[in-house]
Amino acid sequence: MSTETTTAPSIPSTDIDPFAMESLRDPFAADGAVRELGPVVYIAKHDYYAVTRFTEIRKGLRNWRTFSSTDRPFYEDSEFRPRIVLFEEPPAHTRTKSAIMDVLGPKNLEWMGQYFKEQADALLDRVLDQDTVEVDGYQDLATAYVLKVFPDVIGMPTEGREALLKFGNATTNAFGPASELRDQKLASGGEAVAWVEQNINRDALTGDGLGAQLYAMADEGRISGPEARDLVKTVFAAGFESTTAGIAAMLRAFGDHPQEWLKLRQDPELVAKAWEESVRLYPPNRFGGRWVPDGADVAGHRIPAGAKVLMMWLGAARDPREFDQPDEFIIDREMPNGHLSFGFGLHTCAGNLVARLEATTLLRSMVERVAGVESAGEPRTGVNYQGFAHEYVPLRLRRGSL
Ligand code: HEM
Repeated sequence: MSTETTTAPSIPSTDIDPFAMESLRDPFAADGAVRELGPVVYIAKHDYYAVTRFTEIRKGLRNWRTFSSTDRPFYEDSEFRPRIVLFEEPPAHTRTKSAIMDVLGPKNLEWMGQYFKEQADALLDRVLDQDTVEVDGYQDLATAYVLKVFPDVIGMPTEGREALLKFGNATTNAFGPASELRDQKLASGGEAVAWVEQNINRDALTGDGLGAQLYAMADEGRISGPEARDLVKTVFAAGFESTTAGIAAMLRAFGDHPQEWLKLRQDPELVAKAWEESVRLYPPNRFGGRWVPDGADVAGHRIPAGAKVLMMWLGAARDPREFDQPDEFIIDREMPNGHLSFGFGLHTCAGNLVARLEATTLLRSMVERVAGVESAGEPRTGVNYQGFAHEYVPLRLRRGSL
């Protein structure tokens, strides 16, 4: 009788620190290097396990019981991130997610789409006041547009809205190691907290927006009053920086690839695909945290019970096992398995339809008015533990209707 036992291959360990400043400056290089070490890698510095490749992340996220969200790497209770939805699991998650998805879903998309289009057209007509203009795609287009349209449909006051970007930035940095950088980010976000706490209240919101709809669900008993308030806060935390970052990155991608703009002008039906490709190439959200209460098997490797896990979807966005020419921006790319930039499985982004609608509506208005897009200088990205965002996207736009 054989006494041999089969042991799982050991997980490669790395000294690469995905949260060192060098990694934050170029997360694609850092997360790509970790990805190439194996499908699951032990991050020694933080005692966490990184799941690094597209197929394994997708497979893991299908199984929310194994890869649980009730605890996450670097998680502490914080004024920036209510525990609702993202940290919940069924049955509580089913109730709160369905409430928020209802508000951010089909019943509101049609009127929102019309409003977004009016505002996108008006913004572009203002910006394109000469045959050729130079703009900052981050500030003049992405931020100007998102901070106008989405707070309006939620029913927020105009005064002080810029607080939302600071608040969102602190939310993503709350998922990072204790450091001077995190302290700075949280302090900056802290300046926005009072505004947010005041403006998530029912009486601060208009009676006909998405915020009021969430409170009306509490009147119907579908969720509780405190849950309605926490859901409104979640929308404030999750809905702005991410969408602004996604749109700014899309504009940068076109600036770097003027020929793709011409392709889009020739076939404007590619608008939706072009957005999906840009949000694949530049995911506004770098990783999702999980923990494995009973351990987990990933591609034949065993992650021990109780370990914390980073689902590294920014690195997986450029996984050559899934995408041909992964670093290229190809707007008519076929993506049979999609991408992971809105997450996957139980916690797939609740606002993904709204974010997609915002981005594609702006892009459509641009295609109708802009004959050529090119870079007008070196874009600049910010540093962020869980997010990825540009701070400056200089572009030259040449006016020309379709
Ligand atoms: C381009 C814009 C956006 C991106 C890239 C993005 C990305 C993501 C990702 C990756 C997750 C999954 C997190 C995880 O599994 O750990 C997520 C979850 C979530 N997002 Fe978004 N998001 C965007 C816009 C929005 C907007 C506009 C809203 C709300 C208005 C929103 C609300 C949420 C909520 C509530 C969750 C938690 C869902 C759950 O736990 O079931 N997001 N988002």
